[in-house]
Amino acid sequence: MEDLASTRDEESDNNNSKDNFKVTPWEVEGEIDYNKLVIQFGTQPITFEIIERIKHVTGEVHPMLKLQYFFSHRDLDWILKKHADGESFYLYTGRGPSGMIHIGHVMPWLFTRYLQEKFDSKLLFQLTDDEKFLQSQDRSSEEIRHYTYENILDIIAVGFNPYKTKIIIDTKHIQHLYPIATEIAKRITFSTAKAVFGFSSSTNIGMVGFPPIQAAPCFLPSVIENKPTPVLIPAAIDQDPYWRITRDVAERMGYYKPAQIHSKFIPGLGMSGKMSSSKPETALFTTDDPEVIDNKVSAAFTGGQPTITLQRQLGGNALGCPVFWYLRYLFDSEKQSDERLLKCKSGNLLCGECKSDLSKGSKTFIVEFKKRREKAKDVIADFMLDGEPYEK
Ligand code: TYM
Repeated sequence: MEDLASTRDEESDNNNSKDNFKVTPWEVEGEIDYNKLVIQFGTQPITFEIIERIKHVTGEVHPMLKLQYFFSHRDLDWILKKHADGESFYLYTGRGPSGMIHIGHVMPWLFTRYLQEKFDSKLLFQLTDDEKFLQSQDRSSEEIRHYTYENILDIIAVGFNPYKTKIIIDTKHIQHLYPIATEIAKRITFSTAKAVFGFSSSTNIGMVGFPPIQAAPCFLPSVIENKPTPVLIPAAIDQDPYWRITRDVAERMGYYKPAQIHSKFIPGLGMSGKMSSSKPETALFTTDDPEVIDNKVSAAFTGGQPTITLQRQLGGNALGCPVFWYLRYLFDSEKQSDERLLKCKSGNLLCGECKSDLSKGSKTFIVEFKKRREKAKDVIADFMLDGEPYEK
């Protein structure tokens, strides 16, 4: 397979555009250089050797690993060793319910479901309704509650094992998190929190106090199982700052450091940036109707030339095209995607064709997903940490 990630980096290095990016849990901006991010964050790239060790358990290499969509980690090798030695691990991931769910969110969750299935893991899924309420002065608690309910349907629709998955809603299940969170909070200074999260004097104190709440589920499995229990967190790399502070305090509290596997971002359909609910016209939501999907995809930015004649003469820039990446990560096989790349570069493919493939793939995916969302309404209580229903 061609190493598309490095090719893209070389191309971008040539136009010097790659130092202008920012990745925090609340802000992702610019064109991200993932190789530089690994160095900046101090994480490890996922090596061939690690992929082979995963394959030993799964029997195959998942496309999201093969295509380097999941590209970085902390202690993944360690957790695989624990598993090989017969110690099972928990998975932990989450969502901040500030809007509807788009395909970008679903990507790490699909991979989490796959890991759950293959490693037979229990999963904790946290909904940080408190974080999203605190983060913006414009959000009411009613609005957050509405999105919490809607997001629960999406989480269930992903297809996690109902016997092995527990959803934690911070404001509803806080009694399970608070004792752990206070232990964590006591060990983190404001100076560290400021450095890691960029808090300033104008940050509200709720936000300053929030990170231990997201850290707490890393240690909840040890409390539930009554012994130190390994935890692996699949998520996009924007969440990494939380795990840095959690890892710092883990051993002092008698727990294992949580391990992580980090994904890249699915790009939005606009000129740049990750897919984000705050730019709804460039995001495909799991609740979008087919006509809406058609319209959004048809208006998508591409790496194509301004005219068909130029496209035929000069070829397109597939590696700078969100439609290409979206298809590559979600709907094309590796072979199809490599062929698409060559055809586009040589001017033998027009943007309309790729857009039509993307529209078709997204519509099929979303129509099926919506059906599962509907069914999810009847089984919410089965997934809740306390086994109780969550009303709209
Ligand atoms: P949130 O709601 O911002 O994002 C939820 C998950 O989706 C990932 N993500 C994306 N992945 C690929 N492409 C994108 N365009 C994209 N946008 C978002 C995020 O990395 C995340 O995995 N504070 C958290 C909620 C949380 C959490 C966790 C997340 C609580 N505990 C544990 C991950 C793991 C939040 O607001 O995520």
